Amino acid sequence: MTRPSSRRRWWAGLLTALAGAATGTLRAEALKISCGAVGQELELCQQAAQQWARKTGHTVQVVATPNDASERLALFQQVLAARSDRIDVFQVDVVWPGLLASHLLDLRPYSQGIEQTHFASFVANNTVRGRLVAMPWLANAGLLFYRKDLLQKYGERVPLTWDELTATARRVMEAERAAGHARLWGYVWQGRAYEGLSCNALEWLASHGAGTVVAADGRVTVRNAHAAAALKTAASWVGSITPKAVLNYAEEEARGVFQAGNAVFMRNWPYAWAPAQGAESVIRGKVGVAALPGGAGGRPSATLGGESLAVSRYSRYPALAADLVLYLTSADVQKQRALVGAYNPTLPALYRDADIARSAPFIAELADTFTNAVARPTAATGRRYNQVSNQFWNAAHDVLAGTATPDEALVRLEATLQRLGRNGKWN
Ligand code: GLC
Repeated sequence: MTRPSSRRRWWAGLLTALAGAATGTLRAEALKISCGAVGQELELCQQAAQQWARKTGHTVQVVATPNDASERLALFQQVLAARSDRIDVFQVDVVWPGLLASHLLDLRPYSQGIEQTHFASFVANNTVRGRLVAMPWLANAGLLFYRKDLLQKYGERVPLTWDELTATARRVMEAERAAGHARLWGYVWQGRAYEGLSCNALEWLASHGAGTVVAADGRVTVRNAHAAAALKTAASWVGSITPKAVLNYAEEEARGVFQAGNAVFMRNWPYAWAPAQGAESVIRGKVGVAALPGGAGGRPSATLGGESLAVSRYSRYPALAADLVLYLTSADVQKQRALVGAYNPTLPALYRDADIARSAPFIAELADTFTNAVARPTAATGRRYNQVSNQFWNAAHDVLAGTATPDEALVRLEATLQRLGRNGKWN
């Protein structure tokens, strides 16, 4: 039961708030932010948002979101299409600015040029028709995580090609299983039908010299022999070195298997390093990080990923929301996130930071992997990118599940993409 005095206080508070709202003098505003939920994203977002709230006297509520990137996009598109003010600040994937730009605020009037301290390519990616619609927050590239202890035990080196990876994974898995580690798998990655599979499949294709599905000039290039070979190799892993359940794995499911000590190799983003090295981790001190392998005739390829923060045009507090974005993307917060969660900064200056180099050495060691990462075909396909990706991940999923051969899947994919892209005229 509420006591009369506290009930009176509650009413008095409400009346003050309403009066304040009516005259526009309301001081403490309540902002809502939706961050990602992969690894420690939610926790770190929550902490930094509360720091901002303490500093400014406002409140911030962190809205829960699905950790699957494609589900998150669907939710955001729904909220924004309804012009709802339910979320003020969104965490947007590097492949979304072109899709969401018309709903997002131009941050330049608030940023005072601070975007110039971030990677220029990221800022260019987030600038749509001259408007800076999102501030970079973390950079991603696909990486190969491996068990140093197991490779050493069998005298194996870190694989440089997919064939080497396949052979090493099989050899270590079979020997360890024979020795009683029945649940060990060779290689885990992201095979669910969602954006993460497009990232994995792009790595297979690009590393085989098969291109990036749609070329920079808008041509659909995906039907080629290298692409077929790449998909064939990936499909051959499923049920042999990779569990069939991978067909439903996103980032966190793959990490769950690796983190439990049940995989020799894993493809994932940098964040997977922090929990692997955590105090409680059974694989602490046993994990190495390297560039993903290359294919026959191809080069190692990592898909470029990353996240930014954007303000909704339907926010009631655009200036405050922009201030929150600038705080969260600042060097201090990015450094903290790199140290605690192994999220790669978007500020080149932090790549020379000694504390970060100590806690996540691969961030500096794999600088080439990050700078040469392959972009998904967003520039060529513009607002149709998500449809293109959807077709691509479905085609790859069909091949992995064994319901289509690589050739069948690629012929169909090419025809669909050509229809979507009206012969290269995507926008
Ligand atoms: C990560 C990347 C993002 C990518 C997604 C796929 O969140 O930052 O760019 O689209 O993974 O699952």
